[in-house]
Amino acid sequence: MDLQITDTAPDNAVTAINDYLQRHETKSLLRFITCGSVDDGKSTLLGRLLYDTKLLFDDQLAALEGDSLRHGTQNGELDFALLVDGLSAEREQGITIDVAYRFFSTDKRKFIVADCPGHEQYTRNMATGASTADLAVVLVDARKGLMTQTRRHTYICSLLGIRHVLLAVNKMDLVDYAQSTFKRIESDYRLVAAQMGIENVTAIPLSALAGENVSSRSQVMGWYNGPSLLEHLETVQVERVTSKLGFRMPVQWVCRPNQNFRGYAGQVVAGSIAPGDEIVALPSGVRSRVARLVTADGDLPRAAAGDAVAIQLEDERDISRGDVIASISSPPQVADQFAAHLLWMDAAALLPGRPYWLKIGARMVTAQVTEIKHRVDVNTQEKRAAKRLELNEVGFCNVSLDHAIAFESYEDCRELGAFILIDRQTNATVAAGTLNFALRRADNIHWQHTDVDRVARARIKGQTPACLWFTGLSGSGKSTIANVVEKRLHAMGYHTYMLDGDNVRHGLNRDLGFTDEDRVENIRRVAEVSKLMVDAGLIVMVSFISPFRSERGMARSLFENGEFREVFVDTPLEVCAQRDPKGLYAKAKAGQIRNFTGIDSPYERPENPEMHLDTMGASVDELAQRIIDGLLGQ
Ligand code: ADX
Repeated sequence: MDLQITDTAPDNAVTAINDYLQRHETKSLLRFITCGSVDDGKSTLLGRLLYDTKLLFDDQLAALEGDSLRHGTQNGELDFALLVDGLSAEREQGITIDVAYRFFSTDKRKFIVADCPGHEQYTRNMATGASTADLAVVLVDARKGLMTQTRRHTYICSLLGIRHVLLAVNKMDLVDYAQSTFKRIESDYRLVAAQMGIENVTAIPLSALAGENVSSRSQVMGWYNGPSLLEHLETVQVERVTSKLGFRMPVQWVCRPNQNFRGYAGQVVAGSIAPGDEIVALPSGVRSRVARLVTADGDLPRAAAGDAVAIQLEDERDISRGDVIASISSPPQVADQFAAHLLWMDAAALLPGRPYWLKIGARMVTAQVTEIKHRVDVNTQEKRAAKRLELNEVGFCNVSLDHAIAFESYEDCRELGAFILIDRQTNATVAAGTLNFALRRADNIHWQHTDVDRVARARIKGQTPACLWFTGLSGSGKSTIANVVEKRLHAMGYHTYMLDGDNVRHGLNRDLGFTDEDRVENIRRVAEVSKLMVDAGLIVMVSFISPFRSERGMARSLFENGEFREVFVDTPLEVCAQRDPKGLYAKAKAGQIRNFTGIDSPYERPENPEMHLDTMGASVDELAQRIIDGLLGQ
């Protein structure tokens, strides 16, 4: 609505309207989420809140009345749950399946609320909602008390930095508004919250359906003299103390509208800055001084947390998207190895050693989980050993990046401490993570210079080092072909080595089996070894099933352009199983070996191998010669 204030309005009216507008403008914003078990009444509570505060538009009300008659479960009364369950699919199933954000305001405050689903499989949505919220309304059904989901959601809230919980003990009408029931649930919950590091818990007994203690204080629970839900939401102080941090701004983009202007644009996430201040860009360490703080509404004399600005520096420096500009006196840390919490959100498990994209702010790097220190049982908070993380599991992990980044612990600064992991094959977001601290080992290990380098080592051998990476099913002929290739190269005077899956598994990889995570580690190690051998100047043949695209891609990424040649030994599964040189297919089919590639463990065919050997109808000698010709450029 556009309010036109004209000169003809009476003075006092103008003042009143101006007051109102100003109040509206300066009202603080509270972001909160609602969570709890299915059927705890989240949607009803939100609907009631919006209805009571007259925040519904008329057309929404009309729709609500119609809907209640059609779908309603409240005997012809208005069904508030229908108001907030936005998606029609949800209505049919009677559940909430996505995060619905609503915006409303009262005289005192503005609110953005994320309504998060209660089903376990929707943890992803819950985490999305929690990551931007300052407070969580955790609903509990007074008849049932704390449920697994109550603990689970509280833990995720705590993991994602929420420090304030409003415990809404709902459906008090169904327990005769009994104080003892409320007290018991409250004290149970305080114990749980304290374990999870949530200090600020306000418990309120209410009935969303009957409207008791929602927007005004209840008359029927005389024993309770705390605030109503709305009162608490309107007054609770949730400001975070980021003031201890100096100036920080991740660069969202570099704007260059013309030759004379280059600005680094972004939102200030901590501290403040003014023209003349010295800055450092991280991780590069480039230093400069602020010339101007430019915004769409003109220059600012000072920019502080929350402001969006373009920083112009006194000199042209090489700073790019994803860098963090910080005050020179107290910059953030820079590191490439961390301890972090991960909430795994993908159906395919997290496998340590597998490369993923890690996105933190505008920066994207490659990351590997090098170790899962423990998995946290989200329901009991117990720490358990784990080799992988499955859907909805939380793990405390060591993470290693291919490039250093500037960061803060998530506790200190959400913007510089929260990240996501992205699957490199599917581009799906597979995890939400929070950085805890940098691993010291990262600081204390440096690259040692050696005078004899890879070029010198290759030169003395008179050859161009390479890695020939044979991949294919067991029994496809990888090792047989690689063996002939090596024999011929050797006869021609080339320095070679052969890394064969079966052989390496007798030594270096003796501790590994055939689960997905062990195969990832198997390939990681052999890729690193083959890289060392190429550094040593050798032509290396690697003959491993290497069934996963990710790991073959990871191996490739260790090498310089042209050094790595993927050789796909393509023999149909039936043929391999028929040959069955080691009798393993027979055993696998009889259920005596588990996780056998091609039988009950997948093989992901290469998409763009340097060489695709269709082995049917060609002899081993022919195939070996094709590889040698390809390698030596004949
Ligand atoms: S990889 O998948 O991790 O790359 P690798 O090449 O090291 O496998 O080892 C494969 C060899 O181990 C096979 O040629 C076969 O002889 C033997 N093997 C034993 N169990 C299995 C299994 N479950 N799956 C595949 N190969 C197995």
